[in-house]
Amino acid sequence: MQVLNTESALRMHLADRGRSGSVGFVPTMGALHQGHISLIKRSKAENSLTVCSIFVNPSQFNDPRDFERYPRQHEADTAMLENAGCDILFSPSAETVYPGPDTHTYRLGPVAERLEGRFRPGHFNGVASVVKRFLEMIRPDRAYFGLKDYQQYLVVRHLTEEYKIQTEIIGCETVRDPDGLAMSSRNKLLSPTDRRKALELFKSLSAAKDAVKRGEKSGLKSIGENYFIGSEKPRLEYFEIADGETLKPIGDGDISRIAHPVALVAAHVNGVRLIDNMALR
Ligand code: PAJ
Repeated sequence: MQVLNTESALRMHLADRGRSGSVGFVPTMGALHQGHISLIKRSKAENSLTVCSIFVNPSQFNDPRDFERYPRQHEADTAMLENAGCDILFSPSAETVYPGPDTHTYRLGPVAERLEGRFRPGHFNGVASVVKRFLEMIRPDRAYFGLKDYQQYLVVRHLTEEYKIQTEIIGCETVRDPDGLAMSSRNKLLSPTDRRKALELFKSLSAAKDAVKRGEKSGLKSIGENYFIGSEKPRLEYFEIADGETLKPIGDGDISRIAHPVALVAAHVNGVRLIDNMALR
């Protein structure tokens, strides 16, 4: 695996490979786990060359404390990527990613304004700026995003359409621990007790999905919200039922006429903000 830090080294390397094969790209913020590795494997299966980036992007953190304590483990990450057979690790400095001030406001459509957009002002603008910059530097044929961050996946798809970026955006299934907890770099910040509490996110989503399996069509938001009542529970930011294409929330309303209803949740466990989601059908 080549480890590259500058745009010129990256460009040289990508030019070398010729234009014969396709390039797959997996953007990450490091502190890698099997969720990230599943994206690398998918990219390897579908492309002749796989590039992974590691960059903890300051502009997408609306909470500076969250940025400071975001887990960083460069050596372990490099070893994991090497083992997974990644071809290029691109880990640029902030100056390489943002040579000038990062002040542009991107057109991300209504999908970016809901849920995470409401609770984390500026977050998706930061994601858009770093993803667009990486897509311009790497020009991959395909880029792989986890459905764990479902809204991010939709926003990035919108970004590439809006700005006519030629990369195909591919959404990949959420990888979970055996008990259901969605893998996340932030899980590394949880104590064993916190981790048990964090399971409520998965339980609440599963309860909504089970209700749909039993034939229930409405009241699903309340079913999920019930998992967060009590002082021992994670502090709920939102539990929403939404249209999986527009992310328009429907609350406790009827999901019958929605082709892809999705339940989405965000909650804090001991100061760590976690998100998860589940397709209801
Ligand atoms: P990060 O949280 O490191 O995630 C990198 C990619 O891995 C994202 O596409 C995310 O959805 C995916 N991922 C995370 N956990 C996953 C899981 N349990 N199963 C499957 N995929 C999972 O998301 C970001 O970084 C940043 O916002 C980024 C896109 C890199 C821009 O800075």
